[in-house]
Amino acid sequence: MQPKALVCCCARHLVEQQDGTRPGKASMLALERHRSTSILLATTARLTTLRALYEQAIQQGYQAEAPQGLHQTKKGPGQGTEGRSRGCFDAKNARAAVRACAPIVPGDVRPSPCGIRTTARAAGASSTGANHDCVKRLLVTGASGLVGSHLLRQAAGWFESVGTWHSFRPEGLPGRIELLDITDPIAVGAFLDGFQPQYIIHCAAMSDSVRAEREPDIARQLNVTATAALVRHAERIRARLVFLSSDVIFDGRKNAPYVEDDPPSPLGVYAATKRDAELAVRDGCDDWLIARTSLIYGPSPRGDRSVNERLGAAIGEGRRITLFVDEFRCPISVVDLAAALLELVDSPHRGVFHLAGPERINRYDLGLAFARHFGWPTTTMEACKISDVPMSPPRPADVTLDCRKALAVLKAKPRGVAEGLRGLPAR
Ligand SMILES: NC(=O)c1ccc[n+]([C@@H]2O[C@H](COP(=O)([O-])OP(=O)(O)OC[C@H]3O[C@@H](n4cnc5c(N)ncnc54)[C@H](OP(=O)(O)O)[C@@H]3O)[C@@H](O)[C@H]2O)c1
Repeated sequence: MQPKALVCCCARHLVEQQDGTRPGKASMLALERHRSTSILLATTARLTTLRALYEQAIQQGYQAEAPQGLHQTKKGPGQGTEGRSRGCFDAKNARAAVRACAPIVPGDVRPSPCGIRTTARAAGASSTGANHDCVKRLLVTGASGLVGSHLLRQAAGWFESVGTWHSFRPEGLPGRIELLDITDPIAVGAFLDGFQPQYIIHCAAMSDSVRAEREPDIARQLNVTATAALVRHAERIRARLVFLSSDVIFDGRKNAPYVEDDPPSPLGVYAATKRDAELAVRDGCDDWLIARTSLIYGPSPRGDRSVNERLGAAIGEGRRITLFVDEFRCPISVVDLAAALLELVDSPHRGVFHLAGPERINRYDLGLAFARHFGWPTTTMEACKISDVPMSPPRPADVTLDCRKALAVLKAKPRGVAEGLRGLPAR
């Protein structure tokens, strides 16, 4: 059998409630789930469980790497598997073990939800069938969208996740995908009663600000009324809720950057619905976290949701595009945003967090950065000023977010535009 690699590391998701002497159900399930991948991040803080899991992996034909510099013990995993195992794991040094073992499989390495580096291949594994008692249940609303789809991908193996869709059923995502209309509070209540998530990351929304201006009632129903109902249900089942908000709740007239306590001052319908949804979250449940983010780039399941996908489509059609040199945002890669959200959802932190990229950049320079990465022509891209284009509602000029509060607690730090783009396929 082709050997597979096993990396054991220190975290708690998969092995809570183990008996400590034999690989328990969760560990076995972890091995099962990752059968098709070449790397497994087995997680435990308990030496005995880790040792047993190691032995189990060896028996199943995984290539299990022992961390360098750790001591051998008589009871080590080498017993009965001599010649294949090289040591045993010391719980204290488990993180060093991860550092030693992580480069086994090259790939797009991003920090896992628990801050330990994992790989895109590991994240592709299915999380269906996970043990309810051991793996935390995560509901991602809007999993057919840009952010939700990446959350489901990265949650695989760490959470038992269910994602929801409404008009578009995405293919190829790990975990369960269920149809749910979040504007139907009875359906939402029944869904939560059935799945009983401990965590909810609420991404379903009308995220298109132009459409929100056109259809303000639908925008309000989706972004505010539905969020308020979801919050009530989350509180009822004592689930922790993470809500995604936006930098555009600020009008950009302050001398940016904006901190979490700055008062919102929305300029348009979309921005007003996000502000009102934030209020519903704060007022409606105890265990909440609001992540205000900025422009998000990266691939979406439909290929038409992110800022680069929209711009790329316009360029592909040969349309003339005007990009503002005086509109500043802090774009974030969807990969980095998803990693940070998964870290935050499984943390003790509450309240509002600004969660954007580290780089303040204007729209025109962002367009040029995309063009360089994706190989677009720039002939139809024109630099202009906000004042050159009359708009209603007006566009906030500078909504740079001060993200120091999030950076102080996050292990997975968002990357700048050039580095974030490097992790994405150039199409
Ligand atoms: N994209 C950005 O640059 C950006 C920036 C700041 C903040 N945000 C916020 O981040 C969150 C996620 O944004 P996103 O870019 O991932 O949005 P998105 O790609 O537009 O996805 C929106 C999601 O909402 C779902 N949805 C729409 N109507 C629904 C309904 N009635 N019932 C259930 N689901 C419904 C959609 O499902 P179907 O597609 O299946 O209909 C889709 O999965 C939103 O709250 C957004 O306001 C986004």
